[in-house]
Amino acid sequence: MKRIAMMSLITAAFVFGTPVQAAPEMMAKGEKLHADKCAACHMAAHDDKFYTSRVGKKLKTKASLNTQVQNCASNFNIDWFDEDVAAVTEYLNTKYYKLK
Ligand code: HEC
Repeated sequence: MKRIAMMSLITAAFVFGTPVQAAPEMMAKGEKLHADKCAACHMAAHDDKFYTSRVGKKLKTKASLNTQVQNCASNFNIDWFDEDVAAVTEYLNTKYYKLK
């Protein structure tokens, strides 16, 4: 009985699971990738306030944030897959930008 209840919960999560919030695993992945490769410039050189100070300025959409993350990765020879770029975009967007 318990098992059936559990199964229907899981099924419901799949069927109705349009995530409004970023998936926690994706956030964690993005945070780690950012710490490994991006923080060298963006946290040390600019510190945490860098992103906060940029919110609402140049980048107006989540797509443009994604493009900027991709550009920074390419410019500085950081060899990421699209999923990595997406995870870091999710991380920065959830933590700072909050763009649509
Ligand atoms: C070698 C230094 C360097 C590295 C490494 C770097 N960036 Fe950047 N990034 C910059 C500079 C310089 C700018 C543009 C300067 C500015 O807008 O103040 C910038 C701009 C940005 C912006 C746009 C800020 C805004 O709102 O206008 C984002 C987002 C960003 N970088 C994310 C990343 C991510 C994610 C990574 C890791 C893949 C990364 N950067 C790696 C130097 C770097």
